[in-house]
Amino acid sequence: MKHVQSFSRRSFLKAAALGSVAFCASPSMSQAKETEVGMVSVKGDSSCASVAGKRRTLGSGQAAFTVSAMGFGCMGLNYHRSEHPSEEACIRLVHEAVERGVTLFDTAESYGPFTNERLMGKALKGYTDRVFVTSKFGHKYVNGVQVKTEEDSSPANIRKVCENSLRSLGIETLGMFYQHRSDPNAPIETVAETIADLIKEGKILHWGLCEVNADTIRRAHAICPLTAIQSEYHLMHRTVEESVLPLCRELGIGFVPYSPINRGFLGGLINEYTQFSPNDNRQTLPRFQPEAIRQNLRIVEVLNAFGRTRGYTPAQIALAWLMHKAPFIVPIPGTTKLAHLEENLRATDISFTEEEMKELEEKVFAIPVVGSRYDALQESKVQR
Ligand SMILES: NC(=O)c1ccc[n+]([C@@H]2O[C@H](COP(=O)([O-])OP(=O)(O)OC[C@H]3O[C@@H](n4cnc5c(N)ncnc54)[C@H](OP(=O)(O)O)[C@@H]3O)[C@@H](O)[C@H]2O)c1
Repeated sequence: MKHVQSFSRRSFLKAAALGSVAFCASPSMSQAKETEVGMVSVKGDSSCASVAGKRRTLGSGQAAFTVSAMGFGCMGLNYHRSEHPSEEACIRLVHEAVERGVTLFDTAESYGPFTNERLMGKALKGYTDRVFVTSKFGHKYVNGVQVKTEEDSSPANIRKVCENSLRSLGIETLGMFYQHRSDPNAPIETVAETIADLIKEGKILHWGLCEVNADTIRRAHAICPLTAIQSEYHLMHRTVEESVLPLCRELGIGFVPYSPINRGFLGGLINEYTQFSPNDNRQTLPRFQPEAIRQNLRIVEVLNAFGRTRGYTPAQIALAWLMHKAPFIVPIPGTTKLAHLEENLRATDISFTEEEMKELEEKVFAIPVVGSRYDALQESKVQR
């Protein structure tokens, strides 16, 4: 691992350059919860956040997929967020994530569309022997424009998207291929059979589903074992606790919570005066309207108060809470900033006692969440 070998000197220089960032981001360390396998551990260097050596396994049996305990959500690098860094800066940040042991990078055909996969292809060139890229199929595009009222999980489209994703990413095999949203015209059994063929052909290693219900998970898993369900889950949106997470536990399927910081909200840097650009999907979401933000800030205040006495930031508490919920959970926070990347990765070092979890949950769950998470059309695509 050339990156790890050159780590000490580089991380020393980086820590010196980052100065206060590195120290502000450092929570009081407790025992890392994960076993160390594979990669060289850099845990001795406490100045630099890292998940090297911290691994979690999504799925079981032939569907088991061992990845870094926290992944990297790539969408916001160049899609759906008001300001995006230059391509050069994005690539640098992705390299920083690789250097810190992240092995799971999550993208999708629809991010951009298409441009996020191309960006990740450039960023991960030369690194794909040590990291995995996951992508998604299922939205319908005609001449490059999304038909938002329909989905397309036909076998032909799954195959087409897979080929395009591999080409854009410059790789031969996808780590995981998720169905982005269910398609009422494509029986999940047919989708699973198509995926099983793609696995046999070596185009993908594993597969998963997003925002599906327990019935779909059971039917899909019976045909081709699922590695992970990727649905939204965080302190402010916990529907998956009702039946999806218990089923994942029962069937040995992993869970990848997307938007684990509630699209930045739980990081504490958004308030009712925050202006989102037209390219930022948050400005369309009920939960990001000024009055909803104003009322929901009470939740962030709980995280601030909880973290203040322990030396953690609100984002770290949100991520550590998720990781504490189950060992088969691997969050994929997105960021455009090295400081946030480090802060987020340090959440893998935090452990809460059962009393702390109880205290946190009682305080957060006592506050009603204002504003639905999606508009009516997007909400209709989430299986109940
Ligand atoms: N399957 C699906 O349907 C689906 C849907 C949405 C997303 N996803 C996946 O989930 C990934 C993450 O989701 P997301 O980007 O929507 O939400 P997120 O990870 O919850 O939040 C990202 C936002 O939080 C901010 N942030 C990150 N770390 C922070 C910190 N420590 N303190 C304060 N703010 C912080 C980032 O801003 P900065 O850039 O300023 O750090 C960014 O705007 C995506 O990249 C994508 O891969 C999947």
